Amino acid sequence: MGSEMPSGEPSQPPPRHIAIIMDGNGRWASTHDKPRHAGHRAGVRVARAMTRACVEAGVEVLTLFAFSSENWQRPAEEVNGLMRLFVEVLQREVNELHANGIQLRFIGARDQLSELLRRRIAAAEAKTAGNARMTLVLAVAYGGRWDIVQAARRVAAKVRAGDMDPQDVDEAVLGRHLALSGLPPPDLLIRTGGEQRVSNFLLWDLAYTELFFSPVLWPDFGLPELSRAMDFFRQRQRRFGRTSGQVEALAD
Ligand code: IPE
Ligand code: IPE
Ligand code: MG
Repeated sequence: MGSEMPSGEPSQPPPRHIAIIMDGNGRWASTHDKPRHAGHRAGVRVARAMTRACVEAGVEVLTLFAFSSENWQRPAEEVNGLMRLFVEVLQREVNELHANGIQLRFIGARDQLSELLRRRIAAAEAKTAGNARMTLVLAVAYGGRWDIVQAARRVAAKVRAGDMDPQDVDEAVLGRHLALSGLPPPDLLIRTGGEQRVSNFLLWDLAYTELFFSPVLWPDFGLPELSRAMDFFRQRQRRFGRTSGQVEALAD
């Protein structure tokens, strides 16, 4: 276990999986009299720094929400700029991520992405597939509802093919068909930018995640705020439906 908390305070081991809704790039840009795209570019620098910080903190999985199913509704100029940025960042960062032992994994509706971006994604995943120091999951064209639908569709196809009985479809089966399959669920969700909502992120996987809402706009997010989030997490008692007494007895 990590450092002792003051008496009576629960103390968690550090989160294995952190998920982040990186929000506030547009507002950051307006407060600096810049176009929204400048906010997204600044956001990439922070994503890079937070990836490094999480590797150093021993986090096993970092999932970053980069573009939601609903973000397609933004003006074409912003959407195209973001897609170009993803292509550019992948190209630029993949070697360094690989050198640092990071495995890249993408979740989202790939068929909605350009051929070029899909190729870059496939190449980045293939190149880093053998890495085990940390998994960096990038959610692009991702929605929690999309995820549940695509899982249900694949399970239904197996049932129709006669490979599975409807009675055998349970939480574990559905979970194995979801985008984060094989990874531990997020322990800690951080949302920056002040909004206190999930915005169709990992709906299934967040069932027992601790939620940390930060007022800081994503381009201003840094180590001090990450460490506030970690402190918040450390002080939670995770009960998973049990009573405090039961949880304390289990910890002894
Ligand atoms: C998050 O920042 C990045 C994406 C959704 C792509 P926003 O672009 O939503 O920034 P705000 O919320 O408008 O400030
Ligand atoms: C959530 O942010 C999506 C990402 C950070 C990628 P939004 O800015 O799209 O969320 P809403 O629209 O404020 O709920
Ligand atoms: Mg936003």
